[in-house]
Amino acid sequence: MRKTVIAGNWKMNKTASEAAALIEDIKKNLNAEEKAEVIVCVPFTDIAAAVEHTKGSVIKVGAQNVHFAPSGAFTGEISASMLVEAGVEYVIIGHSERRQYFGETDQTVNQRLTAALAGGLKVIVCVGESLDEREDGVTSEIIVRQTKIALKGVSAEDMKKIIIAYEPVWAIGTGKTATSEQADEACGTIRAAVASLYGSEIAEATVIQYGGSMNAGNAKELLACENIDGGLIGGASLKAPDFATIIHSC
Ligand code: 13P
Repeated sequence: MRKTVIAGNWKMNKTASEAAALIEDIKKNLNAEEKAEVIVCVPFTDIAAAVEHTKGSVIKVGAQNVHFAPSGAFTGEISASMLVEAGVEYVIIGHSERRQYFGETDQTVNQRLTAALAGGLKVIVCVGESLDEREDGVTSEIIVRQTKIALKGVSAEDMKKIIIAYEPVWAIGTGKTATSEQADEACGTIRAAVASLYGSEIAEATVIQYGGSMNAGNAKELLACENIDGGLIGGASLKAPDFATIIHSC
């Protein structure tokens, strides 16, 4: 039985004081024990507030990026050890917004991912096709390539620390969700790619999330799919009642 993991990706939203207020609000909407694992991936400047306000709750803290070097002349970047010491447990790597706007490639995703693991972080690695790629019928090829390159050099043992998020680019922030059939099929394709690298036992144990306009209304249907083990949620994770509804849809 795979666990269900619901993660909020706050993107570039919320100051530290706003983060504290939102986390307090989310906590009010959650039970002491939740079936799903809950993560909030916050901007770097919100990490201290998030760690402080999630203490003693079921909510774990994630960051949204990490650099591949342990330290050095990389102005504006943050290392794995900086995140770990700040109390961060997870990091999102390879989000399509990083690939699209900040020159992230399959290779730098792999570099960041292996550095994150070496530094003691757990990873949510994002893969997903663009609208053109879906319309050209190459969705499977794209997500398999992204998955395989992202995982290059990752040991079977370290796969326990990896969550893969399938996020079709055309569904992100558009209000246009993949149908549950499309999402389940893509997550199944990713699972088969993991199986081809690590065998079926590890593939069956790997958590694969769907992300892209998941909300309080559509979460239940998506999360009921065989290959979808959770959600990576943008907009709806910024509203405490909606985020809680998604968590309770598992
Ligand atoms: P939305 O839920 O706002 O579509 O964003 C999804 C996403 O990019 C999560 O990483």
